Amino acid sequence: MNLNKMPTLRIGALEAEIPIVQGGMGVGISLSGLTSAVANAGGIGVIATAGIGQFEPDWDINSKEADKRALQKEIRKAKAETSGIIGVNVMVALSDFDDLVQCSVDEGANMLFLGAGLPLGLPKTLPLDRLGELATKFVPIVSSARAAKLVFRAWQKRYNHVPDAVVVDGPLAGGHLGFKKEQIDDPDYALEKILPGVIAVVKPYEEQFNRSIPVIAAGGIFTGADIHKFVQLGAQGVQMGTRFVATYECDASMEFKEAYLNCKKEDIIIIDSPVGLPGRAIRDKFLERISSGVKEIFKCPWKCLKSCDFKNVPYCIGLALTNAKKGDLENGFAFAGANAYRVDKIVSVKELIETLVGEYMAVVMQRTLEARVAAQNA
Ligand SMILES: Cc1cc2nc3c(=O)[nH]c(=O)nc-3n(C[C@H](O)[C@H](O)[C@H](O)COP(=O)(O)O)c2cc1C
Repeated sequence: MNLNKMPTLRIGALEAEIPIVQGGMGVGISLSGLTSAVANAGGIGVIATAGIGQFEPDWDINSKEADKRALQKEIRKAKAETSGIIGVNVMVALSDFDDLVQCSVDEGANMLFLGAGLPLGLPKTLPLDRLGELATKFVPIVSSARAAKLVFRAWQKRYNHVPDAVVVDGPLAGGHLGFKKEQIDDPDYALEKILPGVIAVVKPYEEQFNRSIPVIAAGGIFTGADIHKFVQLGAQGVQMGTRFVATYECDASMEFKEAYLNCKKEDIIIIDSPVGLPGRAIRDKFLERISSGVKEIFKCPWKCLKSCDFKNVPYCIGLALTNAKKGDLENGFAFAGANAYRVDKIVSVKELIETLVGEYMAVVMQRTLEARVAAQNA
């Protein structure tokens, strides 16, 4: 055990000094500002693509192009700000999944995090017989050993290649959840329970492909002690979203961050998202209006989510999340992890990472002392 350092996180040839991935947070919450700050602090910063084009002037008439252009700009901006590791998060549920994956590879993103649906297939425009030769590493996000098995099996069969790492997003995460509503509070589906199953699925592929495939734990990880706990359980890194919202560098408005500072435990609720998955969010007037049966009037310029039944859903989730990101919480709402109520101040990314490292090292020291005392008493 190294008493001076957290373990590094190695994915392919890339090595993050701090084993922390900043979770991609869509509709403009994690853009180049947050991403480059995390990468500069030694972690892996992730630009989220969901709704990224909504901030382009031609979004209403040219949405797909707006998405691609905005992603291109954000990757370039992030790369200009850091020489650290930059990832891109693409939701499988997005209608332009293929275009955004291809654009990330073309722009030289270091990693692709593929979640909100099972990434069983990749765009046909990629060199699918030579995936391992691409500089971009592929990291699916799953919520069960079964999902991991399906993805690994499909990739092996189709591409003779398996993912470079995998994120296990547990039921305490913010945003969309890969669980049925009744599983969310069931202790059998806790991150501590599902993580070992995913590690067991990945292990034979590590042997077969003769490379390490790190498993990264996510959902409700709040302190350095939490990171230590999941590393002890076999994770090689963690992905954190909620903590990074409450940073100066997070690309959301101050009002969005204040929703985190002001919320109480009971304000954090599970909603039905038009994506077709449950989601975790902070209760506000908008969500109360929707749950009382009000149907918002909106125009759908294009069906951004494959599964959205836009003529029948009560509101446009892309618009509601964008409004919140910009600070209009009367007409939108904030996604948040189960621990968002514990956020009590906004700090810099550097300060946050230093705090997490300090807390992690305090546990390492404590455990080392305990082991020494036990050895002396033996
Ligand atoms: C505001 C917000 C937006 C999110 N958006 C996305 C997204 O676009 N794509 C995705 O795969 N995960 C998304 N997530 C999940 C995070 O990437 C991360 O896995 C999760 O928040 C981890 O749990 P934590 O918030 O408890 O740390 C979002 C989470 C939050 C809080």
